[in-house]
Amino acid sequence: MTNTHYTSTAKILHWLVAGLIVLQFVLAKLAENTDSPVRELALLANHKSVGITILALAVVRILWRFRNKAPALPANMPRWQVLSSHVSHWTLYALLFLIPLSGWLMSSASAYSVSWFNLIQLPDFVAPNPDLKETFEEIHELLANLLAAVALLHIAAALKHAIIDKDGVLSRMSSTATVALFAAVIVLGVYALALPGKPAPAATSSASDTETAASAADEPVASSTLPVWNIDYEASFIHFTGDQAGAEFDGVWQDWDAKLQFSPDDLASSRFDVTIRTAAVETQDDDRDATLSDPEWFDPKNYPEAHYRASRFSDNGNGEFVAHGQLSIKGNTAPVDLVFTVDSSGDERVLTGNAELLRLDLGVGTGEWEDTDWVSNEVSVAVRVSANLP
Ligand code: HEM
Repeated sequence: MTNTHYTSTAKILHWLVAGLIVLQFVLAKLAENTDSPVRELALLANHKSVGITILALAVVRILWRFRNKAPALPANMPRWQVLSSHVSHWTLYALLFLIPLSGWLMSSASAYSVSWFNLIQLPDFVAPNPDLKETFEEIHELLANLLAAVALLHIAAALKHAIIDKDGVLSRMSSTATVALFAAVIVLGVYALALPGKPAPAATSSASDTETAASAADEPVASSTLPVWNIDYEASFIHFTGDQAGAEFDGVWQDWDAKLQFSPDDLASSRFDVTIRTAAVETQDDDRDATLSDPEWFDPKNYPEAHYRASRFSDNGNGEFVAHGQLSIKGNTAPVDLVFTVDSSGDERVLTGNAELLRLDLGVGTGEWEDTDWVSNEVSVAVRVSANLP
C-alpha cells in the first residue's frame, strides 16, 4: 500500500465482497418470492454457498486489515466524519462475520445442513431446534437489514467524497478494473446462481400409472411355519438418509409394524412383511415433513401405507444375509435388497440392516422434484429390529 491508496489486494477484496453481498440480497429475495419449492431450495442453497464464501473472504480481509494500516484520511476531514467512517467500517466488518454465522446457525437449527456449492458439507453447530431456528432467522434478517442500512450510508459518504468534496477518498479504494469486477460478480452470479435451472419435467406418477402398478409387494407373502418375532418397537427403528442440496438429512418412520419370520437355518421358510404408515415421517423440520406429505412425495392421503415384503433370502456368509424383497409405495414397486445381520442371545434377536434405493423408481418426488440436482435419487435406509421369539 502507498500512503494514499489501498493495495490491489484490498481493492479486489472490497469490490468482490461488495458484489457478492448484492448477489446475496438478490438470491434471498428471489427465494422469498418464488412459488416453486425446488427453486426456493436451489436459491437458498446458492445463497448459503455464497454466504460462506463471503465469510471466508471476510477472514482474509480482516487478516489483511490487521497487517496493513489503511491510508490516512484527508487532514481537513471533520472529526465527526473520521469517527463515523471508523464506526461504519468496523460495523461492516463485524456484520460480514455475524450475518453468515447467524445464517449457518439457522440452517443447523432447522436440520438443513450447509453444503458449500455441493462440494463440502459443513458441520452443524447446534442440534435441530425449531425455537432456536426462529431466533437465528430473526437475528439474520435484522443484521441483514442493518447491513443494508450501513452499506447505503457508506455508499452515500463515498459518493459525497467523490462528487462534493472531490478529495480522492473514493478513488483510493477503486479502479476501473475493480468496479468492473463488482459488476461482473453480480451479473455472472445472477446468471449462474439465480436464473431458473432445467424446466420442470411433467409429473410422472399419475393415477393411471399407479393403478397399473398393483404389485408383488401388495400381495401378502406366502405363509410360513417359522415363529413370528415379538418386536419391541420402542427399541427398533427404520431410518432413512437422503441428500438435499449437497447436505445429508435424516428421517425416521415413526409408525410401522412388521411380521418377521426368519431363521438362518431355514431361509426357504423365512418371510418379511413390513407395513409403514407414510403419514408418520419425521425429518426434524416441519416444512420438510409437510412437503413429504404432498402428492409429489408420499401422498399419505391417497396412499397411507407402504409395504416391504420378502420371501427370498440368501446367505452372504460371515453372518450376513440378504432379503431380496419388493418395496411398494404409492402403488409403484421396486426390488429392494436388505442386507442384514442377526445377533441372537437366547430367545432375543436383534436384526440390523441396510438397503439402498432409488426414490424415482418408486415415484417418490415427482414433477419438479425429479430434478436430482437438489434432492438425491439415492436414499439409504437403516433398520434395527429388536425382538423375542415366542
Ligand atoms: C453476508 C452474507 C449474507 C447476507 C447479506 C444474507 C442476507 C440475507 C437476507 C437479506 C435474507 C432475507 C431475510 C428476510 O428478509 O427474510 C436472508 C435469508 C436467509 N439466509 Fe442469508 N445472508 C447471508 C449469509 C447467509 C449464510 C452464510 C447462510 C447459511 C449458511 C444464510 C442462510 C439464509 C437462509 C436459510 C435464509 C432464509 C430464511 C427463511 O426465510 O427461511 N445466509 N439472508
